[in-house]
Amino acid sequence: METVKDHYDSFLGSVYSWILGDFDNAREKNAAFFASLDLTPAENAIAVDLGCGPGCQSLPVAELGYEVLAIDFCQDLLDELGEHAGDLPVRRVCDDIANFRSHMSDPADLIVCMGDTLVHLPDNETVELLIGDICESLNPGGLFVYAIRDYVGDEPEGADRFVPIRANDEQIFTCFLDYQEDVVHVHDLLYRRINDEWRMSVSDYLKLRLDTRQINQQLTALGLEIVATSSMDGMIVVIAKKLV
Ligand SMILES: C[S@@+](CC[C@H](N)C(=O)[O-])C[C@H]1O[C@@H](n2cnc3c(N)ncnc32)[C@H](O)[C@@H]1O
Repeated sequence: METVKDHYDSFLGSVYSWILGDFDNAREKNAAFFASLDLTPAENAIAVDLGCGPGCQSLPVAELGYEVLAIDFCQDLLDELGEHAGDLPVRRVCDDIANFRSHMSDPADLIVCMGDTLVHLPDNETVELLIGDICESLNPGGLFVYAIRDYVGDEPEGADRFVPIRANDEQIFTCFLDYQEDVVHVHDLLYRRINDEWRMSVSDYLKLRLDTRQINQQLTALGLEIVATSSMDGMIVVIAKKLV
């Protein structure tokens, strides 16, 4: 099985924006979400985007006036973000999100980890450590926003484990989900049409079956208040605020 980093470097990174549906669309949806939070960043306010990918969250957050530290371990996706960013204040760092604090010199006013990124971490302990670091790195009044899919509710069975993601005349992307006790074994299948022949490639990796209730309990125990929970594109979105 691939590590998550290998999976993104050698397989998913090159088609990630395509499977999002359309990058501009995804960026606009996120822009509408952040606009709905009525954020009023002070001058030099800092935001951190953990697992930024091509920048669906980093770019709208920078447009709102934050200086963004965007971290991801997939260089191809960071390069894409660079192409979209223009003059926006987005600093791109290629590293594991577990190391994000080593790239910060001041506390953050906003930290986001969206698009199901938390479940890509190797185990629950790493998630707990990251959440602890996030809570310590926020200014009082600062926000943490995370978004993950629900892998603890109903388990898909039989044919429902095959999820069509996107298809056009040139390529077809499907996911096969194998639910295990603590993880979902994800298989990504990509068919590409090359010289009128369909060629299949497959790559697999594990996602953690994280429970938002446990994450929220930890956030609350560490001095954050859960201020809103909503859903966007099939993901649970949670907003937590560090108490003053
Ligand atoms: C599902 S994508 C989400 C991207 C973006 N936030 C979005 O909503 O479109 C997950 C991203 O997290 C990155 N990633 C996953 N685990 C990581 C880790 N431990 N350290 C750094 N980046 C990671 C992947 O490379 C990928 O870009």
